[in-house]
Amino acid sequence: MGAPGDVKAPTDWDSLTFSFTETDRMYVANGTLEDGWSEGIMIDFQPLSLSPAACVLNYGQGLFEGMKARKTPDDRITLFRPELNARRAADGAKRLVMPEIPESMFIDAVRQVTHENRRWVPPHGKGELYIRPILFGSSARLGVSPAEEYMFVVFAVPVGPYFKGGMSPISLRVSQTHHRAAPGGSGGVKAIGNYAPGMMPSRKAKSEGYSEIIYLDAVEHRFVEEVGAANFFCVKDGVVYTPELTGTILPGITRLSIIELAKSMGITVREQKVDINFALDCDEAFCAGTAAVISPIGSIQHGDLEVDYGGVGSITLALFERLTGIMGGSLEDTKGWTHEV
Ligand code: PLP
Ligand code: COI
Repeated sequence: MGAPGDVKAPTDWDSLTFSFTETDRMYVANGTLEDGWSEGIMIDFQPLSLSPAACVLNYGQGLFEGMKARKTPDDRITLFRPELNARRAADGAKRLVMPEIPESMFIDAVRQVTHENRRWVPPHGKGELYIRPILFGSSARLGVSPAEEYMFVVFAVPVGPYFKGGMSPISLRVSQTHHRAAPGGSGGVKAIGNYAPGMMPSRKAKSEGYSEIIYLDAVEHRFVEEVGAANFFCVKDGVVYTPELTGTILPGITRLSIIELAKSMGITVREQKVDINFALDCDEAFCAGTAAVISPIGSIQHGDLEVDYGGVGSITLALFERLTGIMGGSLEDTKGWTHEV
């Protein structure tokens, strides 16, 4: 019998969407707050067995990460800045009182999952292998306090564009009634509990023809925070603006990479509070994330206003080409961001 990687491509690479497909193998490790982690193992993809009283099911004690493995034009497989996902997961673990996963263990798990599912990495330019590390309180808890036992699981799924149409500009609506995160809450970490409350406003906006919601800050309902599960950027007179990290916004790895890239391209970047009225008056807008990559924003609806940015802006396009070129291996990675698996 050949290794999984010897078998021919398991899917129709031309019609990939951002949706779940079961792949071959996953990583599982068990840990406790007191003793840390046992050595993780690779097993066939399978359901997990959990007590109905598991802390994650009852109290949402859990977090996830999202990262991608890609094929380069010469068929190597690379990861993009995995150490930043490891660090963000460690910050989230602290916030949710879970045992931190050492960076070397996190990256080793991601590498093993990528390698053992390598036949699911789409060909260069056709999509990516989306890797999902999850960490959660697995043992039973009735009182609201941290679980004693934890699981760290990593699985992977081949994906296409997060928003339909890839680089076609999306239309967004500013939520007037809901906020994603409040000061002092958990908005700055990838806590699983941050996501379900967004499903209702997002679903409603989608049913009315928008691609996603823009959230404003929960205190003044004035400053842009995020676009669903992606960070927000806008461009005015050649300057790139993005909301500063205040603890309510997720510190995106794509966000950081765009800031660093733009600066190295000689573009001024300002991380500051971004008033929605300023954003609506900008020349270009886009959102960015691992799933969303860089998605140009075509229009934003805010109350009675509907602003059209008109096509994909030149700075958005330049950043997209530079970032995806480095990620996919068609441009030289002078920053050492990509790591071969
Ligand atoms: N904001 C939220 C709420 C997210 O869930 C994500 C996705 O991870 C992002 C922003 C973008 O972060 P990253 O670029 O690290 O994927
Ligand atoms: C990501 O971009 O990796 C995300 O986690 C966004 C979303 C799919 C939840």
